[in-house]
Amino acid sequence: ESSTEIDISAIEPGQAIKAVFRKQPVFIRNLTQQEIAEANAVNPTTLRDPQSLADRTKPGKSNWLITMGVCTHLGCVPLGAGQGEVKGEFGGYFCPCHGSVYDTAARIRKGPAPKNLEVPPYEFTSATVVKIG
Ligand code: FES
Repeated sequence: ESSTEIDISAIEPGQAIKAVFRKQPVFIRNLTQQEIAEANAVNPTTLRDPQSLADRTKPGKSNWLITMGVCTHLGCVPLGAGQGEVKGEFGGYFCPCHGSVYDTAARIRKGPAPKNLEVPPYEFTSATVVKIG
């Protein structure tokens, strides 16, 4: 059994936490309305790894962005989930190893990473608990 249950009730809009799933970091982020709007303003077909925010979140819960905290280039942990960490020019995550920049849907926008941050399997088991894996 490798699933992880996480209480998300204390994560305010604009905040994120880091959890661990299968010994790797996971980012759980409560997007602001502005961050959601920024993600939805992009035509996914223009992206390197074309996905919409809706493709990457659950119906009715598009504010909850849950991704692995593992850069798809060479596996560093991007910045942006921790308090005060730099989020990069697209407002999502920034990988300091070789400069990959992810947007507010954790989609790759710049730099060498080939793919968006991976969305792990997860489900909401209540209004305040998410089970990853
Ligand atoms: Fe993230 Fe290379 S590991 S940019």
